[in-house]
Amino acid sequence: MSTTDLGYAVQLAFIVGAALFVIGLHLMNSPATARNGNRLSAAGMIIAVTAEIAFVSQGQIGLGNWAIIAGGLALGGGAGLRLARTLQMTAMPQLVSLFNAVGGGAAGLLALSDFLTLNGQRVLPGDVPGLDGWRTFFILADILVGSVTFTGSLIATAKLMGILRGRPILIPGGRIVSWFAVVCGLSVSIVLILAGAGVVTYETQVLYTLFAVALVCALIFGVTMVLPIGGADMPVVISLLNAFTGTAVSMAGFVVNNVMLIVAGALVGASGAILTRLMANAMNRSIPNILMGGFGGREGTQADLATEGGTVREVSVDDAAIQLAYASKVVIVPGYGLAVAQAQHGVRELADLLEARGIEVSYAIHPVAGRMPGHMNVLLAEANVPYPQLREMDDINPEFERTDVALVIGANDVTNPAARTDRSSPIYGMPILDVDRAKSIIVVKRSMGRGYAGIDNPLYVNPKTGMFFADAKDGIQQLIAAVKEV
Ligand code: TAP
Repeated sequence: MSTTDLGYAVQLAFIVGAALFVIGLHLMNSPATARNGNRLSAAGMIIAVTAEIAFVSQGQIGLGNWAIIAGGLALGGGAGLRLARTLQMTAMPQLVSLFNAVGGGAAGLLALSDFLTLNGQRVLPGDVPGLDGWRTFFILADILVGSVTFTGSLIATAKLMGILRGRPILIPGGRIVSWFAVVCGLSVSIVLILAGAGVVTYETQVLYTLFAVALVCALIFGVTMVLPIGGADMPVVISLLNAFTGTAVSMAGFVVNNVMLIVAGALVGASGAILTRLMANAMNRSIPNILMGGFGGREGTQADLATEGGTVREVSVDDAAIQLAYASKVVIVPGYGLAVAQAQHGVRELADLLEARGIEVSYAIHPVAGRMPGHMNVLLAEANVPYPQLREMDDINPEFERTDVALVIGANDVTNPAARTDRSSPIYGMPILDVDRAKSIIVVKRSMGRGYAGIDNPLYVNPKTGMFFADAKDGIQQLIAAVKEV
């Protein structure tokens, strides 16, 4: 095949790859088709990578380089496969965050390598090279966004893994450092772009120094941006950093003139940005408010409820089982605790038992229940819960008034009625599942511990609420046994 023919074939493969990405993303709209969407997108990526390797390898890649490519594929692919098989769903946010760090860092390194050869031309120190303005712009955009993503994502991962404190970390003068890094990084970048466009001329040594300053500013900003943000907001920040990764990859595509990188990066950037907005809306928070940091994170038990005169009513497993067994309509409300306890299979078994008794069972899914977008859908799909039983918040909320028992399992903030009634609450205005409107509410959790927002939940002192204190997995097993006895 001639070089021109191969070039056309590669462009065609890129179009097919891009189309597969878009169709794959579309299929991810529904839990029923999401797996196929994932497979299709993976196929698109394999096609694109194979085409790129075929193109650049036309006799130009030496044995050593093949070894590097094969080694990289084996190392990255092997690590990815192992993680995919062994990782707990609850650890998914930190994995995504680590992927963001790697993605942003890789895109940044690509641009760094391009700049170090000064726009593709090797120069000797002391030379005054002829730069290209646009190319310099893309290199800098890639380096800056990629570096912020790299350090920001590493800090987010460390917070989620418990290596750093999850609560907001406020360092003295942190905001000033952030602003200084932004102003300094951007000013130096403008000078570099002007140099690239030929408006000003500097020696190579000066260009390298300015470039190093911009790079260090971006790395510092990534750290100071994420440190003050609390654990509760971390999934939103990760999604934002995911949008940054996409942008950095897209910029890298412009730097190395690769259409596939531009398209894939743009898709990741756009979907990350849309997801960030959706999550912020579901929590009734603005993105700047989230980035300001300091929200939530108050741990401990809900002592204030007791001091305010509320009475917590405990329910025994037998009472809870009787209520469930004689109900006509039960709505199960899963939350983070269900995910931690891995109680999804037990919940499915309990639901099957109730359905066998002719009871209508559905699941109320809050958009930010758990710790990542779609967390509850993924979890319940794992237990083969039929998709039609998974009901979104706006769809199920009007049904709570007709519900005999709302069974809340390890969910807290997403059921907190203070979001509707208490103007002073940090979650005031956040849309919630209206479980307090059900005829009876059973809450399965281990203690009076708070949820992620770190606030009290008046649902627990509602006279209709019975608290069943247990680990979600054990508690559900106890309920299954007790329902079988009724
Ligand atoms: P949370 O409000 O975090 O409450 C989870 C509850 O689960 C806790 O109160 C805890 O109480 C209980 N729990 C923990 N381990 C348990 C176990 N092994 N068995 C039984 N219960 C257990 O969860 P939620 O209602 O799902 O709300 C999610 C929160 O995360 C919201 O504040 C949301 O804004 C935030 N958030 C979510 C996202 C996404 S995308 N999902 C993004 C950003 C923020 P005990 O300790 O007493 O057991």
